[in-house]
Amino acid sequence: MGLLIAGNWKMNGLGDRLGEVSAVAECARTTSGHNDVLICVPSTLITRAVEAGAGLVVIGGEDCGAGVSGAFTGDISAEMLKDAGASAVIVGHSERRRNHNETDAMVAAKAVAARRAGLAVIICIGETQAQRDEGAALSACSAQIAASLPVDLEFSEGSAIAYEPLWAIGTGRVPTAGEIVEVHQSIRQRLTDLMGGRNHGLRILYGGSVTAENAGSILELPQVDGVLVGGASLRSHDFNGIIRAADAVTRHSGDPLRRLRHAYETDR
Ligand code: PGA
Repeated sequence: MGLLIAGNWKMNGLGDRLGEVSAVAECARTTSGHNDVLICVPSTLITRAVEAGAGLVVIGGEDCGAGVSGAFTGDISAEMLKDAGASAVIVGHSERRRNHNETDAMVAAKAVAARRAGLAVIICIGETQAQRDEGAALSACSAQIAASLPVDLEFSEGSAIAYEPLWAIGTGRVPTAGEIVEVHQSIRQRLTDLMGGRNHGLRILYGGSVTAENAGSILELPQVDGVLVGGASLRSHDFNGIIRAADAVTRHSGDPLRRLRHAYETDR
């Protein structure tokens, strides 16, 4: 399983930005093809983005309703995303949790909906600054996983947990290598506790102020299976830098000691 390089355009992008998706597809064409590239776009762009992605960029939605259909004005179901051409969806992004009061239970219901529609799902979790300051980052993430992950689900290929510390989103601040590894290891352990061996296909992504400059050193860390990128996914120039950094990491990963050594060195 390669790395997953996922973009999240948030509430950005009109039709005139679709050239960015085509440019990302062009970059993906020139890489080794070991990694997966996904861009999650506003629902209005999904169908056109799929075309622009030319089968080299997987297109996803940014949220979905839990139901199939019904009297939920403004909501878009997972089935509708699929019908529009999406293959994946983000659920539980901290901006949804904060701005729309989404609870862990709602996030879990959306993850079930995504699976029902045959979409890969990216479930976001992450601690606040206050939780990190109190030394409660691991317990906060662990509690969020337990409550927002429907553990009985057979997740479709491409599904992931995205660890996005709230204080790192859009701020330019990134946790240290040691902090990322510590949380990712604890997430993997939690997944094993909850799901047993069935968690192996579930990637763990890091998200929060990922750029073309820092992506390589983040992607080299043990237990980091990809990244979820906001701001730097909006321009193909930046996003392609991340895709190329991931490709370099994958091509060098023949040396199994490399990732361990790197983690050790960056911790000191
Ligand atoms: P950022 O956003 O890369 O702009 O920090 C990440 C996210 O919100 O997924």
